[in-house]
Amino acid sequence: AGQSTRMASLSPPIVIGHRGASGERPEHTLASYELAIDEGADFIEPDLVLTKDNVFVARHENDITGTTDVADHPEFAGRKTTKTIDGVAHTGWFTEDFTLAELKTLRAKERLPQLRPDNAKYDGLYTIPTLAEVIALAKKRSQELGRTIGIYPETKHPTYFASIGLPMEKHLVAELKAAGWDSADAPVFIQSFEVNNLKLLHTLTKNRLIQLMDSSGGPADNATPSYAAMITPEGLRAVAAYAWGIGPNKDMVDTGEGTPTTLVADAHKAGLRVHVWTFRAENFFLPASLKRGADPKGHGDVDTAIRRQLAAGIDGFFTDFPLIGATAREAF
Ligand code: G3P
Ligand code: CA
Repeated sequence: AGQSTRMASLSPPIVIGHRGASGERPEHTLASYELAIDEGADFIEPDLVLTKDNVFVARHENDITGTTDVADHPEFAGRKTTKTIDGVAHTGWFTEDFTLAELKTLRAKERLPQLRPDNAKYDGLYTIPTLAEVIALAKKRSQELGRTIGIYPETKHPTYFASIGLPMEKHLVAELKAAGWDSADAPVFIQSFEVNNLKLLHTLTKNRLIQLMDSSGGPADNATPSYAAMITPEGLRAVAAYAWGIGPNKDMVDTGEGTPTTLVADAHKAGLRVHVWTFRAENFFLPASLKRGADPKGHGDVDTAIRRQLAAGIDGFFTDFPLIGATAREAF
């Protein structure tokens, strides 16, 4: 039997703070997570990579060139290098070449300063958080607020990390166990684009697992089937053997025009919940010439898109703007 047999009955859709409240603070900082919680997120999302000394830190990439001030540290100049990760060449600095103590001397900076200039005002203020610090924050705020704040970690590049002797699955399970959050009812969802990562985790932990998927292509570890095959009724039943839910690109549910697809209904039929990514201010990412005057940051687009998808039956969603998400969920 798959994880679906452990599912509770339908509960209200969850709001997941994507990289925290990354539309408003530099992503993957405690300040970003804290703001997400204050704005009403139920879960906060740390993307996870490993340090040289096997500690999980929250970064979208192990290449930290664009999200920290590492380039301004002359003592680390010699660590700049080029690596191929999941088939893509990167030149810069990488978490696995630093101890946690070394990484803690760096400061976070906004990844997209041209697009999110307000976030760049916080550059230089925040350290890179560890997973343990993110869990501690979630627990502390849960107690203070009297509502459960969970974590929604994503393993980034697990096949690559295993290839350099840093197996993520073992370390993640150990960290969750140490936090007392390794059971099926812990406020944790572990997500990955890699199939074999999730299948291995399924043998190691009872934590709920989410198979991420995109509109095209296939799993990042080159496992089969493709995402297109994964969302057929047969494909979804196969996912349900190891996962609690799926995390599709939101366009796979509803492009914002016409009628939603049958993915939510098909997934529910297979016993899988559906958490879609990512509601961000699309308009925000347009060149200035294309931005609409009345809503230059596209917040209206985010709100409308979330409300449409709630109506289409999703069980949760990632957003860079948790306040917009929590408000839409409240009205649902
Ligand atoms: O994990 C859901 C969503 O965050 C996937 O995209 O690139 O933001 O990690 P990404
Ligand atoms: Ca993610």
